[in-house]
Amino acid sequence: MIITNNVKKTKRILNVQKLDNKVIGFVPTMGLLHEGHLSLVRQAKAKSDFVVISIFVNPIQFGRGEDYGSYPRDIKADSKLLMEEGVDLIFCPNQKDMYPSDFSVFVDETELSQSLCGKSRPGHFRGVCTVLVKLFNVIVPDKVYFGQKDYQQALIVKRLINNLNYDIKMYVLPTIRENDKLAMSTRNNYLNDNERKDSRCIYEALSLGKELIKQGETRVFVVVDKMKNVIMKKRSTKIAYIEILDAVNLKSLKKIKGKILIALAVYINGTRLIDNIAISVK
Ligand code: PAF
Repeated sequence: MIITNNVKKTKRILNVQKLDNKVIGFVPTMGLLHEGHLSLVRQAKAKSDFVVISIFVNPIQFGRGEDYGSYPRDIKADSKLLMEEGVDLIFCPNQKDMYPSDFSVFVDETELSQSLCGKSRPGHFRGVCTVLVKLFNVIVPDKVYFGQKDYQQALIVKRLINNLNYDIKMYVLPTIRENDKLAMSTRNNYLNDNERKDSRCIYEALSLGKELIKQGETRVFVVVDKMKNVIMKKRSTKIAYIEILDAVNLKSLKKIKGKILIALAVYINGTRLIDNIAISVK
């Protein structure tokens, strides 16, 4: 397994692989890897000849007052896990290559990013799109892997690949959950035992929403209100948003029908967690 932090060297290594007609699979991450990431890595291993994982905590996708500084990093533990998975290359770009002092070009998606996390974290998806374009330009992957936990991110990346004419096949894989159904996330590491228990209300609220819809409820506000009640029962929680949207274009719905997304972002004593369920309603 090779570890690089330099763009030129990484491009050279990947050029050799391409000349050898190797299919390049790529999983971009911010590190502190968990089973959610590893499920993507395993798919990449199964579907490509040369697997690249990037580890980079991208400063420009964090807003002011967010957790960029404290975001957990452990490159040694990550490398060990990735070595065991048989990954070929870990790319941990240095800040200078990613954001030189004259950096002034950004990539902005202007439609799908208007709701949910794009609305509650202004500038977040501009940061995500910009870093991904840079990573795609260095690695030139044939296949990329993302998780459904970041549903809005996945939709935006799909649009980015399409709109910017990248020849990349994108795979979106199911959310991996802990035993008590909390979606796996690096930020779960911030939770103490009580907060961890409280966090169960997130999946409970999503399940209730899904159940109400299955029983025939078609009014968005009724479902959202009942979900809010579940979250607000826990004192540690603060709701950033709970929304039910069209799962394809993330627009609001007059009535719950078709392919829909139930999505939420909830703070547990300051730790921001997101989750979602996408369902089809007749
Ligand atoms: O989902 C993430 O971990 C990040 O948003 C990504 C895609 C690695 C970009 O920094």
